[in-house]
Amino acid sequence: MQVAIDGPASAGKSTVAKIVAGKLSFVYIDTGAMYRACTLIARNHGLAYSDEAGILKAIDQDGIVLEPGENGQKVLVAGEDVSLEIRTPEITANVSEVSALPGVRAKMVELQRELAGSTDVIMDGRDIGTTVLPNADVKIFLVASARSRAERRMLDWQQKGIEAKQTVEEIEADIAKRDYLDSHREVSPLQKADDAIEIDSTNLTIDQVVDAILAEIAKKRNNL
Ligand code: DC
Repeated sequence: MQVAIDGPASAGKSTVAKIVAGKLSFVYIDTGAMYRACTLIARNHGLAYSDEAGILKAIDQDGIVLEPGENGQKVLVAGEDVSLEIRTPEITANVSEVSALPGVRAKMVELQRELAGSTDVIMDGRDIGTTVLPNADVKIFLVASARSRAERRMLDWQQKGIEAKQTVEEIEADIAKRDYLDSHREVSPLQKADDAIEIDSTNLTIDQVVDAILAEIAKKRNNL
């Protein structure tokens, strides 16, 4: 079974996808982490984030490996665990530019399809239901207001003991900017697939979103 979860940044996709994967013993694949790894590779090689040919070569040299683990997924670049490094503000600020490069997307989509291969997967991203797995059994489009996504990110930092260098308003502005870039790029923009089920998590708890997704998967399984 293939489950696709798409939606804008910080809508809670990875949180709920990990829980659903754990409950159903599906493999969880975080495709955003792959574009973040490409951005890190560009940075490490001292390349401009627009240098498509250079970045593609560097990706081939270093290699990106996803290792499914107990706590979600580990990301390895050149054999090193970069799971934390790909979440820094520097990478976050530049990932939209790198993920808009058509050659980079083609390479990542190929890798994502390979990973989805023959196991049960739940994959989260922006273009999974539309481009990567257009025949996915269940497609979810998870949205939430920019304000509530900013508030959640602030809360997340507080819980992790990370000092907030931005106000909620500034985070909200960053989120709105990334939404715009992700939705307006030429190749595979963030878009709801026609057959996706939209869930607005603004006023829902994590458990309520998880239950809604589990219900959709159960419905599909009963019809298979
Ligand atoms: O989900 P995230 O914030 O980790 O994603 C990082 C960036 O990668 C985000 O700006 C959008 C992009 N992305 C994409 O273009 N396609 C995907 N399937 C997943 C993420």
